[in-house]
Amino acid sequence: MYDVNAIRAQFPILSREVNGKPLTYLDSGASAQKPQVVIDAITRAYSEEYSNVHRGLHFLSNLATDKYEGVRDIVKTFLNAPHEDDIIFTSGTTEGINLIAYSWAMPRLQAGDEILISVLEHHANIVPWHFLRERMGIVIKWIDCAMDGSLDAQAVIDAMGPKTKLVAITQMSNVTGTRVDVKTICAAARSRGIASLVDGSQGSVHGPVDVQDIGCDFYPITGHKLYGPSGSGAIYVHPDRQAEMQPFMGGGDMIDVVARDTVTYNKPPMKFEAGTPGIVQTIGMGVALDWLMNVGMDNIAEHEADIATYASAKLQSLNWLQVQGTAPDKGAIFSFTMAGAHAHDLSTVLDKRGVAVRAGSHCAMPLMEHLGVTATCRASFAMYNTKEDVDTLVSALELCHDLFA
Ligand code: ALA
Repeated sequence: MYDVNAIRAQFPILSREVNGKPLTYLDSGASAQKPQVVIDAITRAYSEEYSNVHRGLHFLSNLATDKYEGVRDIVKTFLNAPHEDDIIFTSGTTEGINLIAYSWAMPRLQAGDEILISVLEHHANIVPWHFLRERMGIVIKWIDCAMDGSLDAQAVIDAMGPKTKLVAITQMSNVTGTRVDVKTICAAARSRGIASLVDGSQGSVHGPVDVQDIGCDFYPITGHKLYGPSGSGAIYVHPDRQAEMQPFMGGGDMIDVVARDTVTYNKPPMKFEAGTPGIVQTIGMGVALDWLMNVGMDNIAEHEADIATYASAKLQSLNWLQVQGTAPDKGAIFSFTMAGAHAHDLSTVLDKRGVAVRAGSHCAMPLMEHLGVTATCRASFAMYNTKEDVDTLVSALELCHDLFA
């Protein structure tokens, strides 16, 4: 039995007030709040366990290294990756995708090669490919979604051609909550020798992930959306692809021997982790993932599905509100617009009621253009949200309607 009140009690910030109202936090898509167990782990790491990792022989360095390296196994379990060495630590999904662009794609692709992406993508899964377009003549092929936000996996497969080298697709849209059938897409890519990257920034937060079942080559996650610290993240890389990668960040930790005329590299995954990493951030991410697995990603998915069904019905019953993205099986992320009110104004009024939502283009300008909007408000629900939060949002939106209609 999922006890949402017991979950909420573990997030101290959820009991604060904002603008004299109880906080209704509906911006977890941008960044999730942190449970006490993560906050405590960060405090403990800095107050009792801190030193640099991989570099010292003293007690604290060994302790910090053990804690830090232990997270590789936690991420492996969280993603059901086959081996710890398949996990490369990053500062988040953005760094993970840029790593693939520089370390895998740049050395291997040639002018005219194609990368397939969908219009649902976050800028983190667009701009690195633009770099390759600008610098190398790589062709970006776009797959549109339907106007309800759904993405036809067959359309992605049909676009795969002899020049396609990589398909890079989100598992869940951060704007509309659309879920994508990434398993079907990755299977088709693999059978054609095309590499596959599944952006797990949102998908990993809202249900169990099994990278072996998905069958992808690259799967980045970001710690701050997974109730862990910002500046933490990881990417699963299939060993065959890892063997094809060249390091792109040079520095300490990623080397074996450095001489005046030569350099040799550490073994993967450290070959791809130059410099002092986000030590405490990574340790905090590990604690967050352990805690999530203890709550149960299936349980979280079930709770959020219930919220999504309730919120869909409530928001779509407001005939003056335009919900952007109503695909079946969507996650609990709702973007909306209201005629006569800019998204920023809506968000400001909602904030006065203690309701935190994001407003703008959500790092997804091509999707905004496709949907014919310049900006939306977005309410993104998480494991700690309740149906009462939906009701609070709806009553704050009714106030907006009274003000702006
Ligand atoms: N990618 C984050 C969002 O969707 C910041 O809001």
